[in-house]
Amino acid sequence: MQIVTRLNALRTAVKDLREDEKTLALVPTMGALHEGHLTLVREAKAKADKVAVSIFVNPRQFGEGEDLDAYPRQIARDRELLHNESVDLLWAPGAEEVYPTGYATNISVAGISEGLCGADRPGHFDGVATIVCKLFNQVRPDLAFFGEKDWQQLAIIRRMVRDLDLVRPQVGAIYGVPIVREPDGLAMSSRNAYLSPQQRKQASALPRAMRDAIATVSDGGDNGGALENLREVLRVAGFQNVDYAEFRDADSLARLDSDNGNARLFVAARIGRTRLIDNMPVEEPGK
Ligand code: PAJ
Repeated sequence: MQIVTRLNALRTAVKDLREDEKTLALVPTMGALHEGHLTLVREAKAKADKVAVSIFVNPRQFGEGEDLDAYPRQIARDRELLHNESVDLLWAPGAEEVYPTGYATNISVAGISEGLCGADRPGHFDGVATIVCKLFNQVRPDLAFFGEKDWQQLAIIRRMVRDLDLVRPQVGAIYGVPIVREPDGLAMSSRNAYLSPQQRKQASALPRAMRDAIATVSDGGDNGGALENLREVLRVAGFQNVDYAEFRDADSLARLDSDNGNARLFVAARIGRTRLIDNMPVEEPGK
């Protein structure tokens, strides 16, 4: 696995990987890799000849008072994990390489960025759209892989690629990968490392409460009642706050009062200072 930290070295490395018309996939990450990230890597390996992974803890997507400084960084371990997955290229630039002095451009995707996590984290999705656009231009991958764990992020990236006529990757070559979960159902996340053992146990109430709310709605119960119950279950389980709990259209992310056949449940909730997010379809596929 080649490791590069400078743009000019990246250009050469990408050119070499692309020789003989080989296809190249990119998996963007912020590191502290877990099975969720590695699943994206495996999907990428299955669909492209060569795979690049980026690790960059992007300061522009962290708000005031968020966990930029505390965000887990374990580059040596990440490097080993990626090496074991036979990744071809690790792109791990420093902040000054990505945002040189005088950097002034921002990408903002209106509408779809505004509810859910966008409401609680002003500027977050501008930071995400900006860095992902830059990563796409830096690496120019044929395919790119993102987790459905961050469903809204994936929708925003697709919108941006369509709106800006990006060609590498094209919108149809942006793949969403289903959420990888711990045995107790908690979605894997680098932020789970912040949880104390007791909080980690309490956290399993989140996917459980979501499945219960979905069962209620699937059985004809009303959305409002199901969400009220979910909030109460999470409060009793030890969550300090539910930032949002909403049924939305899976594609447009428009708010829904009742099931429209394409509904998805989105929740963000806090245990202590750790913010957990999750989402699930109202109908399990194939049901
Ligand atoms: P990060 O949180 O490191 O996640 C990198 C990718 O892994 C994202 O596409 C995310 O959705 C996916 N992922 C994380 N946990 C997952 C899980 N349990 N199952 C499936 N996929 C999972 O998301 C970011 O970084 C950043 O915003 C980034 C896109 C890299 C831009 O900075």
